[in-house]
Amino acid sequence: MLNEKVSKLLNEQINHELYSAYLYLDISNYYKHNGLDGFANWYKIQAQEERDHAMLFMEYLQNNGDIVTLEAIAKPDKVYEGFKMPIEVAFEHEVFVTNLVHNIYGQAAKVKDYRTIQFLDWFVKEQGEEEATADGLVKKMELFGADSRGLYLIDTELAARVYSPPSLVL
Ligand code: FEO
Repeated sequence: MLNEKVSKLLNEQINHELYSAYLYLDISNYYKHNGLDGFANWYKIQAQEERDHAMLFMEYLQNNGDIVTLEAIAKPDKVYEGFKMPIEVAFEHEVFVTNLVHNIYGQAAKVKDYRTIQFLDWFVKEQGEEEATADGLVKKMELFGADSRGLYLIDTELAARVYSPPSLVL
């Protein structure tokens, strides 16, 4: 059995990851509505990845015989003012998620839950990559996103993203 507090945080993380998927779908819809299909594609795939993360947390709890509690997912309520704003929102959200993962890691370390620490190692690395990617997109928009030609080129680049399942298998 997992430590009660660790288990609670892992359960909450399922909700956070599903909210992330919801947020990125909302961003995808915003871009789709505005004719930027490449941006829409990129965030739709990001939403799929977040759903995968939620499943991994859920399966980890199940593999440890714990109860999974699914809570209501909050409505994404941002009103986007301009094409750069969702990308900045996404970056800030990834930093927030990194802190959540680190918090679970800290709690697991406190109670010497080495199994959970090992499970979370993948997420610590993943968050590092996600933050770097999100930050890279912010910088790209700052450099090239201000005019329509630059925006078109970024959109074409983001259209090429294809979904691949997570490398972590439980
Ligand atoms: Fe699952 Fe992007 O954090």
